[in-house]
Amino acid sequence: MKTTVSIIKADIGSVGGHAVTHQKLLDECDNHLSIAKEEGLLTDYYITHCGDDIDMIMTHTNGVDNEEVHKLAFDTFMAGAEIAKDLKLYGAGQDLLSETFSGNIKGMGPGSAEIEFKERGADPVFAYCCDKTEPGAFNLPLFKMFADPFNTAGLVIDPTLHGGFDFEVYDVIENRKVIMSCPDEMYDLLALIGSTGRYVIKRIFRRSDGEIAAAVSTDKLNMMAGKYVGKDDPVAIVRSQSGFPAGGETSEAFAFPHLVSGWMRGSHNGPLMPVGQKDARPVRFDGPPRVIGLGFQVSNAKLIGPVDMFDDPAFDGTRQKAVEISNYMRRHGPFEPHRLPADEMEYTSLPGVLEKLEDRFEDM
Ligand code: 13P
Ligand code: 13P
Ligand code: MG
Ligand code: MG
Ligand code: MG
Repeated sequence: MKTTVSIIKADIGSVGGHAVTHQKLLDECDNHLSIAKEEGLLTDYYITHCGDDIDMIMTHTNGVDNEEVHKLAFDTFMAGAEIAKDLKLYGAGQDLLSETFSGNIKGMGPGSAEIEFKERGADPVFAYCCDKTEPGAFNLPLFKMFADPFNTAGLVIDPTLHGGFDFEVYDVIENRKVIMSCPDEMYDLLALIGSTGRYVIKRIFRRSDGEIAAAVSTDKLNMMAGKYVGKDDPVAIVRSQSGFPAGGETSEAFAFPHLVSGWMRGSHNGPLMPVGQKDARPVRFDGPPRVIGLGFQVSNAKLIGPVDMFDDPAFDGTRQKAVEISNYMRRHGPFEPHRLPADEMEYTSLPGVLEKLEDRFEDM
């Protein structure tokens, strides 16, 4: 029998503007998922949040894209959004674009990442959950985990990783996808995934046997709604050990606080700061963007753990560096490359400004 890990996440409302979700929303999610567990749809679950995004980490045996599991998540977020509206939380129901469920949560606003696998003797699985950024934020750390031997020693010294990994990359603008192999096609892969707003790693497979290694939520909320409604604060599921990167080779990929798109009004570049769950509260200029990491053992579809991966003083230097980078980037104010290029901003007054100036522009 195979086990499925599904993370389905949404921002359905928050306190302090876009800072942090509310405990009552987390409690409501717990009510719904505990009933689903009692009834047997779920085997286990763990609910957390990164900033204003609620992450429902669920295990079951129904496979990926299961209609009942997706409906459970959708109904749960809808019920939570009602509470958010009553409390007049900020952005109540923000990520729910549809009133009615139609078979699959994809395209309805929430983000989802799912993997199905036959459990090994021991199966470490990591959930990395972000706020104030977009799915392409995972391109760099996932590349490091699964293709960079300077991050992942196992690529060189462990024969079970030596064959490399296949990367499934989505072109979120043209709605198409391609699979590329590492290390053979590494330079071509990097040519694509360096464009983090367009080419996004969706899944990673071990080349030797095609086994699933990682999955990312890539649902591009801004495009789905036909207009720019917001960046999808993303999550990733990563499998680990015995033929996959070691647990510490997955967390090490976040030791460099690389620049990602998001932050204030979804319209700025800033460093991705790895934090423990207690610090998943992005408040400085609504950020800087955050990532939390939770390490589980999956055991007969139960979630054992988690370990709070970034609640580790060894990441203090990374956080300090992220603060220095934040200071540096902030000094640019409304200038690029702190502010995003016009076509990637969640908010922009530019068309209005240009319209106002239309009569005053003259040919040179
Ligand atoms: P331990 O010796 O603590 O089991 O660690 C082994 C290992 O491979 C760590 O990456
Ligand atoms: P969220 O995507 O986390 O809701 O943040 C949006 C925003 O505008 C932050 O300034
Ligand atoms: Mg929000
Ligand atoms: Mg958010
Ligand atoms: Mg967002």
